[in-house]
Amino acid sequence: MVKFTSFLSAGCLLFSSLVSAAISVEQDRRIVALGDLHGDLANTLEILRFSNIIDQDNHWIGGDTIFVQTGDVLDRGLDTIKLYDLLQNLRDEAPLQGGLVIPLLGNHELMNLVGDWRYVYPGEPETFGGLEARRKAFEKDGFIGEYLKLLNITTKVGSTVFCHGGITPHFSRLGINWINDKTHETIVTYMESQGHRGKSHGIFGGVGPTWYRGYALEEEDEICSVLDEALELLEANRMVVGHTVQHDGAIRTRCNGKVILIDIGISRAYNSGKGALEIRGNVVNALYADKRVKLASPPPYKSRVLASKKHDHDEL
Ligand SMILES: *[C@@H]1O[C@H](CO)[C@@H](O)[C@H](O)[C@H]1NC(C)=O
Repeated sequence: MVKFTSFLSAGCLLFSSLVSAAISVEQDRRIVALGDLHGDLANTLEILRFSNIIDQDNHWIGGDTIFVQTGDVLDRGLDTIKLYDLLQNLRDEAPLQGGLVIPLLGNHELMNLVGDWRYVYPGEPETFGGLEARRKAFEKDGFIGEYLKLLNITTKVGSTVFCHGGITPHFSRLGINWINDKTHETIVTYMESQGHRGKSHGIFGGVGPTWYRGYALEEEDEICSVLDEALELLEANRMVVGHTVQHDGAIRTRCNGKVILIDIGISRAYNSGKGALEIRGNVVNALYADKRVKLASPPPYKSRVLASKKHDHDEL
């Protein structure tokens, strides 16, 4: 019996090191997250300024802040090139102050990579020098494609998981590393497939992490238990997602703060909702131009593996 439980614990520990892949953060390190930008540079800059991420010249002043952008930088607006430039500049500058910028893929990045241009804003291709130049830019060695094809779909910072749509238990079981590794292994083939979104349960599919909307839209008494299962598998206490627009411009939590919806329609294509999410330790705030609003936060994540190990020990 003792042998059996310690075998189980060892198995769980091995498993947990496979799923967790977290960027570990000191207790009070500041994390700032921004949802869908959809081609609006001016509104993005304004938010980054009042969140103390950039100065008036758009340079990083965030110190050791970890800044996560959950995808959908492009479409519905003109500023595709300028926004990707900004994110890449900040990603270069942040580490000089001990900071980190983590841009993630959204479903609109994936759509543009496979030539699904239904949401490209009129006139935006001219910012590339026309359609043909734009097409080239999104190829695997084009200046946008070569950047996007390396991005991750999800990341875990401390015990918060970030992704564009949401990670179902199916993908949580496979783990954060698996999701990102699978993305990198298959994205070029996917890009060259020109428009096949893949199986709906595939990594780029309709219930995959960039498209899923369940945590934002389904009834809480149905979906919170699903979210609990996903979070347990991810060894996390909350998930932060974009993708589903909050038309009142307010960052919203569901399931007692276990999911946070940060797509507040930042782009003028929606309602110029200007806000960012800030996490420090287990304290969560929505930052707006003129106020900060404290949001619900679940208790810190506690490993069940450690809890059960302690329990085993007590029994001995
Ligand atoms: C993807 O995630 C891994 C693991 O956290 C990280 O080392 C890598 O820098 C990330 N890639 C990008 C492009 O952000």
